[in-house]
Amino acid sequence: MTMAGHYDNPALKCQSFAHFDASRVPSPCFVVDEVAIENNLKILRRVQDESGARVLAALKAFSMWHLAPLISRYLSGTCSSGLHEASLAREFYDGEIHVFSAAYTEKDLNELAGFADHLVLNSFSQWQRFRPTLLAAKAQRPHFSIGLRINPRHSEGEVALYDPCAPCSRLGIPLSQFDATQLDGIEGLHFHTLCEQDLAPLARTVAAVEAQFGDVLGKMKWVNFGGGHHITQPGYDVDGLIELIKQFSARHDVQVYLEPGEAVAIRSGVLVTEVLDTTWNDMPLAILDTSATCHMPDTLEMPYRPEIWHAGDAEQLAHTYRLGGMTCLAGDVISDYSFDAPLAPGQRLMFDDMAHYTMVKTSTFNGIPLPAIAVWNSETDALTVVREFGYDDFKMRLS
Ligand SMILES: Cc1ncc(COP(=O)(O)O)c(C=O)c1O
Repeated sequence: MTMAGHYDNPALKCQSFAHFDASRVPSPCFVVDEVAIENNLKILRRVQDESGARVLAALKAFSMWHLAPLISRYLSGTCSSGLHEASLAREFYDGEIHVFSAAYTEKDLNELAGFADHLVLNSFSQWQRFRPTLLAAKAQRPHFSIGLRINPRHSEGEVALYDPCAPCSRLGIPLSQFDATQLDGIEGLHFHTLCEQDLAPLARTVAAVEAQFGDVLGKMKWVNFGGGHHITQPGYDVDGLIELIKQFSARHDVQVYLEPGEAVAIRSGVLVTEVLDTTWNDMPLAILDTSATCHMPDTLEMPYRPEIWHAGDAEQLAHTYRLGGMTCLAGDVISDYSFDAPLAPGQRLMFDDMAHYTMVKTSTFNGIPLPAIAVWNSETDALTVVREFGYDDFKMRLS
């Protein structure tokens, strides 16, 4: 069945799905258009070729390793949030493996020091603690490069949850805590401050970084501008970005890196869901086989409202429903939507633009290991660790 109706909602991003037949896949199902991914990659590749920056795919946003060969054809490598994502990079992706974590466990750091190309630390205390291990790794593999994440405390974002420069942020070293006497062995600086932003916020951020850390930049081999650049969104000033990178690299004689995540996968994938039941309590309700809390946590955390193909805002079309999941959580509600015709059990719907962040949050975000599970007997003190989760558990929840 091809769904008929509203193709003209300007907010819909995955235009290639206008004629996709949602009954061709199981439900629920993420469906990713590899052509749309490749179109994004072509734009990112152009930035790379024309600016001299190396562009990495941020696996935290989109780590569908089935498409790793395609991504590796266009970009210089990947950036990871920890050992599991970096292991995915090593197993499936080509190119450089970069990793940043807000803090590393000793065990993970020892492993990462054996294969990462760039490792970025979030504090001088972690640098001091792991310096011997990291310098020993560099002695073995001279191209291994160690960096520090800085926090220019220059906010461009509107949502505090997504703003690494918000007051009291734990992400990056602010100038007041930056000890320029401890840089022996540090080759690069990393900042990530943006979220879905255009060139002007980046330009202002770069100016803030230069004003605060200008004297250090010249001593570095590389500077990583992080992610949050909406490069593949129509209207992004790609030429301006290329110029900004060229000028920055020349000014400080550094290799620039970009690590966009969303820009790799934006406009490329939908989440197909099925209506299981319709009920009524003060208003028409529909229960879906997708859940806000299990599959789309951003709809509760941010919160944000995903668009649905062939649906409108509440009351815009004839039949308005509140859509929710099949879990027991009272708040497992996605939002209110309206449709041309009443919804019916078995009917398929498509949430728009769900390939980035939603898909990874359905598995284990950032590849952060799941807690082990143990049984303890408080009388006998007998303890059994019944289950531990590792890299394979993370990997097998994606594809
Ligand atoms: C350190 C770092 N790099 C890159 C990214 C990717 O950002 P985006 O997907 O917005 O481009 C993030 C996102 O949170 C990040 O924290």
